[in-house]
Amino acid sequence: MRDKHTLRAWREGFLGRAIYKLKEINNRYNIIKKGNKVLDLGCYPGSWVQYLLDTNCEVWGIDVKEVKNLKFKFINKDVYDDSIFEKLDNNFDVIVSDLAPKTTGIKDLDQERSLDLCYRALEIAKKVLKKNGNLLVKIFDNNRLDEYVKEVKNNFSYVKIFKPKVSKKRSKEIYIIAKSKQNL
Ligand SMILES: C[S@@+](CC[C@H](N)C(=O)[O-])C[C@H]1O[C@@H](n2cnc3c(N)ncnc32)[C@H](O)[C@@H]1O
Repeated sequence: MRDKHTLRAWREGFLGRAIYKLKEINNRYNIIKKGNKVLDLGCYPGSWVQYLLDTNCEVWGIDVKEVKNLKFKFINKDVYDDSIFEKLDNNFDVIVSDLAPKTTGIKDLDQERSLDLCYRALEIAKKVLKKNGNLLVKIFDNNRLDEYVKEVKNNFSYVKIFKPKVSKKRSKEIYIIAKSKQNL
């Protein structure tokens, strides 16, 4: 059975319920501003892209799954493939990552893969995010969360952890909001 946010998203013409999480985060933390150049990691099916386009951003996105019917700069690749850097300039204002691995049901393995994706998002941010740029990363709460947050804090002036109201109660997903990247 579809939950109420998925049904609402379909009714309102959005490609997924995730759009309400990004809206809530941005209303609260103001990480994305009109006209920003934004890179969306794990952008399929595209509801964050829709939000970013509505905010008049220059939108770039990467996913292994193809996103169709939206006008933005789409790179159909794996984020671990270093050839993505041939396509990206190093002047993004914001990077958002909703990357999530295909789950296997094996808790430790799923958490490890999710954390790896978070580290990859941070690595990409170190390379292509502007000084003072902002980063948003989805992470599944786990016993290595503190270690990751510490690493983010080493690179950004302001870091907060937030669980959007729209996230399913039983879901362990949370979002890390990191503002003002420092060039170390
Ligand atoms: C939760 S979905 C993103 C939803 C999206 N924010 C939206 O609003 O429509 C997570 C995405 O991460 C992508 N993904 C996972 N691992 C990836 C990888 N290694 N490289 C590229 N994309 C990946 C998946 O294909 C999936 O589309």
